[in-house]
Amino acid sequence: MTVALRPFLPADAPALARLFRASVEILAEDDYSENQRAAWAAASDDLAAFAQRLASALTLVALRNHEIAGFASFGNGALDLLYVSPDHARQGVATALVDAVEKLALARGVKEIQTDASDVAHDFFKGRGYVATQRNTVSLNGEWFANTTMKKQLAPPAPQGKPH
Ligand SMILES: CC(C)(COP(=O)(O)OP(=O)(O)OC[C@H]1O[C@@H](n2cnc3c(N)ncnc32)[C@H](O)[C@@H]1OP(=O)(O)O)[C@@H](O)C(=O)NCCC(=O)NCCS
Repeated sequence: MTVALRPFLPADAPALARLFRASVEILAEDDYSENQRAAWAAASDDLAAFAQRLASALTLVALRNHEIAGFASFGNGALDLLYVSPDHARQGVATALVDAVEKLALARGVKEIQTDASDVAHDFFKGRGYVATQRNTVSLNGEWFANTTMKKQLAPPAPQGKPH
């Protein structure tokens, strides 16, 4: 089944907040503790702030079979959010989202994209050619989390001039 993409609309915010919570609670189960996941999922509880975060970035919504299956947001050279619904995991939804984000970023003149990848997403990004540059420990809602800053060059290397 193919994945369709469209830009974020303000009316999507409640559905994306629910998807965010389910994605963290279920897909991050193997990598983060229950307390960590509760603190992480709470980041969408303030719906107005969450909607503002999505609206102020370039946010794409992925649909499979007319259902919202995931979303990604990009701003200031960084992929900020990437969340897929547990019902649609491992079906290529994140791949479609990040393919599009990388193309749009390149079209905007971004030569290097970066993300603070969760341990859940590390292998996904590694498989796309992102290189880990730094391990981080961040505090969110009273819990500490490890993640990894990963970077990918988007622009092809400049062609080398032929030797004379
Ligand atoms: C990480 C995440 C976005 C991946 O989304 P997805 O739509 O399932 O990913 P895709 O189907 O496009 O995966 C493409 C490839 O990436 C790799 N991959 C994806 N998820 C993986 C995982 N959990 N573990 C190892 N490899 C993974 C696989 O190689 C996969 O190909 P395959 O399914 O043929 O083996 C999703 O698991 C998620 O939303 N996680 C919870 C939230 C999160 O951590 N977000 C990232 C914040 S930085």
